[in-house]
Parts: sequence; structure tokens; C-alpha cells
Amino acid sequence: MTTAEPVETVDLRAAHLVRDPFATFSRIRERAPLARGTIPGVEPVWIATRYEDVRTVLADPRFVNDAANVPGAAPGHRTEQVWQARGLPPECEEYLRAGVFDADGAEHRRLRGLVHPSFTAGTVGRLRPRIEQLAEEHALGLREHADEDGVVDLIAHFAYPLPVTVICELLGIPESDRPQWRTWSSYLGRGAGPGLDDALRAMIAAARELIDRRRAEPGDDLVSRLAAAEGATLDPVETVSLILNLIVAGHEITATLIGNGTAALLGHPEQLARLRADPDLLPAAVDELMRWCGPTLGALPRYATEDVVLAGTLIRKGEAVMPILAGANHDPRVFEEPERLDVCRAAAPHHDAHLGFGYGAHRCIGAALAHEEAVVAFGALLRTFPDLELAVTPEAIERGPNPAAWHLATLPVRL
Ligand code: HEM
Repeated sequence: MTTAEPVETVDLRAAHLVRDPFATFSRIRERAPLARGTIPGVEPVWIATRYEDVRTVLADPRFVNDAANVPGAAPGHRTEQVWQARGLPPECEEYLRAGVFDADGAEHRRLRGLVHPSFTAGTVGRLRPRIEQLAEEHALGLREHADEDGVVDLIAHFAYPLPVTVICELLGIPESDRPQWRTWSSYLGRGAGPGLDDALRAMIAAARELIDRRRAEPGDDLVSRLAAAEGATLDPVETVSLILNLIVAGHEITATLIGNGTAALLGHPEQLARLRADPDLLPAAVDELMRWCGPTLGALPRYATEDVVLAGTLIRKGEAVMPILAGANHDPRVFEEPERLDVCRAAAPHHDAHLGFGYGAHRCIGAALAHEEAVVAFGALLRTFPDLELAVTPEAIERGPNPAAWHLATLPVRL
């Protein structure tokens, strides 16, 4: 059975959506299971906001990540349309789609298999002492950056440096090159705007240079392992793409979780007090923060390889559906009182089911690492600063403009 009712059209870059995506997607979700989403310069996509539909799109093999894998597909690639709409140089496109995000089936398993072993729970457990040391250092270092009123920007001086250092050490990026990589990544993290194309060109050249250097002088790091695979299981464009995937994901999104999560906790003093009283709640609290204010609002669009009926609507072969994680994570069909932040919620059986790291074959490779970093980061902040508070009203906190990732431009806190 399919419905022929007209569906709502949503401008995915609208200012109100960037300001409060959870409220906007919740409103859309409760009107109808599917809506149409528009991004200037890109063909409209379906958007799925209900938990079950989002999981179906992410796990059903009838949906693929690469539009070129739709049988009989036209050569035009929608990822290219998105990148072109953002003003990215055409010569960089092959690097943007050769990585793990845009691959399907056996090709995806091959690429994922080369990086996943570096991000398993076991590997992350071994990294824990180093993450703790870094979190402690950066938390103590915050005082040096504070003004005379004890006010400091937590994003610049804590949320960013911690994950950046961890991912750079894992990949084997020399310390002297890290500030440059961080600047480039922030351009990519913003998603659009001036400077993005130059940053991308520079990152591709620097990644190539790093791979060649590590092939000549291998170390115990991920770039050295990828350099060794190049020529056998990886082609040169894929190697660069994988490195860009990991650097950008490792720089931006975990920092965003630490920023969003700290702002949420400081805006909910009773939840903060529960965590201070029982730090063992931290792992469950991170899952709840991923659900309540997770940085990734939507997964990448998936393309139907055949006609599929989703939530009673016919999705035609070749059409794209964007799974809206922010909608799924606030779906009252799965989460009781979804708008309530409750740091104990995920500790209850079956309540850690948020989709903030995605679901299915493309579920986030860095999930265990990001989760651990956030647990350690919040733990260090709470221990070091018993009186930590927001230095501005919650409404005055400035959000960044990237519509795909809900992030703070700055987070002024008083130590
Ligand atoms: C809080 C932090 C993070 C969040 C919220 C997050 C979120 C996500 C989501 C939602 C996906 C699935 C996208 C889709 O299906 O379209 C994903 C995939 C991915 N993430 Fe993360 N991520 C985070 C941190 C990281 C880190 C630290 C790394 C690596 C160092 C990483 C690497 C990746 C990679 C490589 C993929 C693609 C996996 C694939 O396509 O098979 N992420 N992430």
C-alpha cells in the first residue's frame, strides 16, 4: 500500500533548522513519516525521521551509499552535486568519494577492514591511559587561557585539542604539522564557505606527502599501515581518501560532542549533580548525550536500488532517502519523554539504543574511541572544576553554520 498524500518540503539549510534541529525534525516526524528535503543545487531527497524507518534505510541492502551502484544509474553522482553545490573543486571529487563513506558491498568491506582494527574496543582500551593523561593536561591548562573573571572558551582550549591529539597520534601525523591539519579540517567541518577548496587541495597534497614519507620510514601508526597496503589492496586515491575521512571525523565530530555535551550538562544542573555524585554514570551519560544532542543530525543519503515501499510511501529506484538521526533519537515511539535529558536513561535495559553513531554496515568506525574520549573528557572537567558554569545564557551560545553537524562556535564557561 502506498500513500499519494502531498508531503512537506523542508529546506535542510533553513536558519531555524540549524538553530534547533531537534524541535524542527520532531515536528516533521509527528506530521508524517516521510518528507522531502531540499539543498540548493541538489535534487530533492526523501527524509526519514522515525526511528524504525531510519534503521530500515541504514540496514536494508536495497539501499546503497553510492548512487552509481543503482542498476542502470545515470553517470551523474549525487555526492558530486552536493560537493559542487558547496563550491568544491572538481579535481578533488574523486578523493571525496573514494573513501569508506561512499562505498558499498565488497568494496566497502575491503576499505573498512583496513582501518577498523585500529578502532576496536580493545585498541581503544589500550589507548585509555594516554587519553586520560591528555584530558588531565588540557583540563589543567584551561586556567592559563582564562581571563581575569575565570572565563575561557571550552571549544578552542579543551574540546578540540583532546580528540585532535589522539587522532593525530593514531595516524602518525607529526606534532609540527598538526596545527595546519587542524585548520584545514575546520574548513571541511564547516561544510561550505570561502577557503574550503584551498584547504581541500592542501590536505590532499599533504596526505600524499605523508603516505610517501611513511612508506620510506614506517612507524607504528595507521598511515604507515595504509601506506604498506597501497599498491596491493588500496589504490593511491583510496589511501588519501581514507586518511581524509579519519582526520576530519576524528577532529571535528568528537570535539562537537564534548562541546554540545558540556553545554547540555551545564544547562541541566540537576543532571550535572547526579553525575558529580556518581561518576560511574559517565558511560551511560555519554550515550544519553549522543541521543539528546548528538552532533550528526543526519546520515548520508541512501539510494534505492529498486522500487521500495517505506512507511507506506513508494521510493522509486534511484531516489535518495536521508536518514535523520536527530529525528530518530527523539522518537517517542522508542524513547519515553524524549525531550527530557536523563543521564541515567541509557543505564536502564534497552535504553542505549540511540542511532547517533549510525546503524548497520556503515556504523561509525570511531564510535568506541569517541565514546571513550567523551567519558574521559567529561570526567576530567568535572573533577578539575567543581564550580564549572556557563558564562553566558544558554540562548546566547553561538551555533556554527554547518547544517549537517549541530555544533557550537564557542562555549564560554567560568572555571
Ligand atoms: C562523537 C563523535 C562521532 C560521531 C557522532 C560520529 C558519527 C558517525 C555516523 C552517524 C556515521 C555513519 C554515517 C552514515 O551511515 O552515513 C559515522 C561513520 C563513520 N565515522 Fe564517525 N562519528 C564520530 C567520531 C568518529 C571518529 C573519532 C572517527 C575516526 C577516527 C570516525 C570515523 C568514521 C568513519 C570512517 C565512518 C564511515 C564508516 C563507514 O562508512 O563504514 N567517527 N560516524
